Amino acid sequence: MRAARLLTLFGAPALGLLAGLAFATPAGAEEEIVLPKQNWSFSGPFGTFDRAAAQRGFQVYNEVCSNCHSLKLGYYRNLAGIDLSEEQIKAIAAAKSVPTIGDDGQPTERPALPSDHFRSPYPNDKAARAALNGALPPDLSVIEKARVGGPDYIFGVLTGYGEPPADMKMGDGMNYNKYFPGHQIAMPQPLQDDQVTYADGTKATIEQEARDVVTFLTYMANPEMEQRKRMGVKVIAFLVLLTGVTYAVKRKVWADVH
Ligand code: HEC
Repeated sequence: MRAARLLTLFGAPALGLLAGLAFATPAGAEEEIVLPKQNWSFSGPFGTFDRAAAQRGFQVYNEVCSNCHSLKLGYYRNLAGIDLSEEQIKAIAAAKSVPTIGDDGQPTERPALPSDHFRSPYPNDKAARAALNGALPPDLSVIEKARVGGPDYIFGVLTGYGEPPADMKMGDGMNYNKYFPGHQIAMPQPLQDDQVTYADGTKATIEQEARDVVTFLTYMANPEMEQRKRMGVKVIAFLVLLTGVTYAVKRKVWADVH
């Protein structure tokens, strides 16, 4: 009863905060992690996705992250939203094979189409864990929304690898990461300088690759974002106009009353 009242009073954010406090900082031993704040092209009420960055980010996802992480909610056709052409999308899809049922009724594979979901690297979670030392790589479709700090957090995790402090005991197969809660992450450092070769000549430093892939993943989690922001701006403009008109009408109606 009490909990239900609290929930209606403060809503989900407060609950999330409480849950975060309860689970993320056991025994209050953990220091607060300060994320490196980045300037993102897509933040703010007028922000849009930097198309070149998002396209490079897709390349990083495609060549690196997709070896372990699925992007299940995405379709290849979503790549049209970051200005890849229909031809490019067809070719990207056709390079992947997806499971299907053959004419003989048996499971087989066929080249993917733009209307297909992104292919997952593993058929199921068990297979992923079996291949990755027991760790499960989370699906990246909405990871930008699913983590406190969103883009800054993902950027932090991708760039936060290093040597653990001398007094830290690392688990088997775990890697030290400055920005991952608890500082031990099962994901091996995925990005290196020149991990990919960008077609547009951009220098592929770890930071560059991280920023690009975060831009791409943020787009995938919010493909409707630009439309939503444009609508918001129109609605505010309309309300401002309406306020002006209403005020003018009020002055006219009450003009004779002194
Ligand atoms: C070799 C496999 C592998 C590759 C390649 C890989 N990851 Fe991971 N990733 C993992 C695993 C395993 C985890 C789970 C780690 C854990 O829970 O300790 C993970 C976790 C994550 C997380 C979640 C952290 C959290 O808060 O739970 C993010 C974000 C992430 N990876 C992004 C990426 C991106 C972006 C790329 C490509 C640049 C990438 N990963 C490449 C295996 C991989």
